[in-house]
Amino acid sequence: INLKVSSTGGNASSPLMYGLMFEDINHSGDGGIYAELINNRAFQGSRAFPSTLEPWVPVGNAVFALQNTSIPLSSALPTSINVAPGPLSSHAKIGLLNPGWWGIDVKPQKYTGSFWALGSYKGDFTVKLQSNLTDDVFASVEIPSSCQPGKWVEHKFELEPNLAASNINNTFVIEFEPGSGAVNFNLISLFPPTYKNRPNGNRPELMEALKALNPSFIRMPGGNNMSNETIGPLTQRPGRPGTWGYGNTDGLGLVEYLNWCTDLEVEPLLAVWAGMYLGSDADHILSAEALAPWVDDTLNELEFILGPVSTPYGALRASLGYPEPWALKYVEIGNEDNLYTNGSSTYAAYRFSMFYDAITAAYPNLKIISSTGDYTAVGGSGETATWTDFHTYSRPDTLVSMFDKFDHASREYKTLIGEYAIVQENLDGQLAGVNWDLPKFPQPVWIGAVSEAIWSIGAERNSDAVVGMSYAPGFQNLNSYNWSPDLISFTADVSQTVLSTSWHVINLFSNSRYTSTVPITSDSPLGPAYWVAGTSGEGKYTFKIAIYNATSSVPFNITFEGVAKGASGRLTVLSAPEGLSANMLDGEGVPTEVVAKREVELVAGSAGEFGFELENWEVAVFTT
Ligand code: AHR
Repeated sequence: INLKVSSTGGNASSPLMYGLMFEDINHSGDGGIYAELINNRAFQGSRAFPSTLEPWVPVGNAVFALQNTSIPLSSALPTSINVAPGPLSSHAKIGLLNPGWWGIDVKPQKYTGSFWALGSYKGDFTVKLQSNLTDDVFASVEIPSSCQPGKWVEHKFELEPNLAASNINNTFVIEFEPGSGAVNFNLISLFPPTYKNRPNGNRPELMEALKALNPSFIRMPGGNNMSNETIGPLTQRPGRPGTWGYGNTDGLGLVEYLNWCTDLEVEPLLAVWAGMYLGSDADHILSAEALAPWVDDTLNELEFILGPVSTPYGALRASLGYPEPWALKYVEIGNEDNLYTNGSSTYAAYRFSMFYDAITAAYPNLKIISSTGDYTAVGGSGETATWTDFHTYSRPDTLVSMFDKFDHASREYKTLIGEYAIVQENLDGQLAGVNWDLPKFPQPVWIGAVSEAIWSIGAERNSDAVVGMSYAPGFQNLNSYNWSPDLISFTADVSQTVLSTSWHVINLFSNSRYTSTVPITSDSPLGPAYWVAGTSGEGKYTFKIAIYNATSSVPFNITFEGVAKGASGRLTVLSAPEGLSANMLDGEGVPTEVVAKREVELVAGSAGEFGFELENWEVAVFTT
């Protein structure tokens, strides 16, 4: 394949081209990136998920009861655990034990904890991190009780083990003397060190896995699982039924999401709920009347994020320690509102416009994104037009066949590819959609990642139409997940972060940005090799390629305008042994790595040409 790359004549590349999508699905928030180690720390309940004592275990002859005491910790957290001496009297300490979210990774580092207690206890509380299998106690501290009858009192502590535990089958324990009767506990919390030491922050190794993707934005908090009542002290967060089969504590709330963006240095792309529940049609759509308070709620949320301190919600933000507004530029109205017939029609008829009109009247500079994935519900055109969010879950052949989708897209609007992923195998050359009744891949596979690379190349070639893209979902808690495949898998063991095949492709492409696409003249059609070229200034080129279904090696001979004989370039190639290879945990629980990376330095020949060969199912970036 002979290619000539020009130095000018393309389109400016979108600065948002690669980003992240986060939704609390698969226990990716609670029990996941949100670093809280205590599972069911505040006995939060809802109609869907009533308060429970699970997974707390009594210590000694303690007897547990869930209680709504006459004096609650807060109206948001009315239920607490009553820990009382059991009927068999004993002088041994009693208490409560928590196994964490499928384990606790104990390391020689500082753990910061707290709990609220109600009772008349006057002795010491003993707080420990200990093994669940042996007598090993990794760290223990005595905390004098500050309990006062009739009043909830917070107790704070630190635990610092000297040694790492050999496995994650460890527990957190609070004990006390049984003599003075029962004690009620609530909001029992324990954090390891967090990314950038944020209080109430995120797991460092998972944040580093995201940072390595060089993302430009995070679309959050969904997806489907959007939330409210998530600001202020943790005592003021009631939690809520999540979309994905478990309750959400909402410890990971709006401020935490915005801090997350700050810490990763990415743009927040805030999704707001637009009146459609998941489910089939009519009963799941709010009427205009019922939707009005949600529009107000969104305006309050935006005032909290963007408003001056002279406004009520700006003042609330300042009172929480954030006098300066955040730099929010993008708001998406709803999620997949085209999913159902009534969803589509009501979105176009009133739901989109109710939000759009109210938001743009108050914040004319915000870029609004419609969630329909097509252009039917967006208003305006050109620079003032809303963007639209397109999602695709697909099979490799089908996604490759969509390579040129955006070649034909309207230039009046821009598209965000807010969710994409290969989730099922090819079907004998048929360009089939996903069959949602059949199993999906447990983890991303290599042929899927190659087809996603081609999809990304298609997006990059059209960066005047495609504003950016984010793989979804972002995380899979291997102990409990309801959606696969996912970009990054993990357990409570920080050494078990699995970076998927798709992660590797995004890592390569997102770290190989350029400022403008440039035209290419070719003597061969696209397929089985797919490419895009870009430049970041004189002599600085980036050329991305993916090979899909080639029957032999694919030789390239490329010249770049202005790059002469003797110039150097670097070829980085990703490959994997088989199309269905996947990164996962092996039998010993160690992350596997099927993606091989080779890097080759090349020198331009007498006509300034660079020559190299790629094999089937390879993904490569060449830079000069
Ligand atoms: O990413 C998983 C789910 O897929 C999201 O919640 C939803 O937007 C889509 O249907």
